Amino acid sequence: MKKILLPLLTLILALTPALSSAEEAKAKPEKEETPLEKSMDALNKSWRKLRKQAADPAQNASSLVLLAAIQAATKESLSYSPDLARDVPADKRDQFIAGYKKKIKETIVGFDQVEIALKAGDNKSVVEMLTKISALQKEGHKEYKRPE
Ligand code: HEM
Repeated sequence: MKKILLPLLTLILALTPALSSAEEAKAKPEKEETPLEKSMDALNKSWRKLRKQAADPAQNASSLVLLAAIQAATKESLSYSPDLARDVPADKRDQFIAGYKKKIKETIVGFDQVEIALKAGDNKSVVEMLTKISALQKEGHKEYKRPE
């Protein structure tokens, strides 16, 4: 029994790094995130929190902090192009990217209005405005995001 214990232990030890690096490879995302995905993810994080608390005037100070992060991420998104633009024929690509930027600008204006309403303590308008921005998100994704 003792005779096989040592080779067995040696084998396990030798295999351990190989196994763990195989696990690491599995955990990694299949594709590298695009810069736009990164800023959209940042936007999404604060957006979800803001939507949850938007109706509550007691949380307006915190909502303004969330909104500042949202505004920064939305403005950052303006400097990127959708990944889908690569699939658009060259002669239509500029138009496609311009359409994307126009919609992002509308979203930026929407968030600027949310800021005014939050500062005025008009939570009813804040909630309505967020619903409108949610529609912009849906349109933007339908038109410019690569289908899953
Ligand atoms: C409240 C507003 C919005 C939220 C919360 C939001 C959130 C997200 C999320 C979570 C993703 C997926 C990121 C990933 O795969 O890691 C995404 C991707 C994307 N979004 Fe948005 N989004 C918003 C508005 C918009 C608007 C208005 C547009 C277009 C004008 C847009 C265009 C895109 C595109 C094109 C992608 C794919 C990324 C790429 O092409 O590289 N999004 N968004």
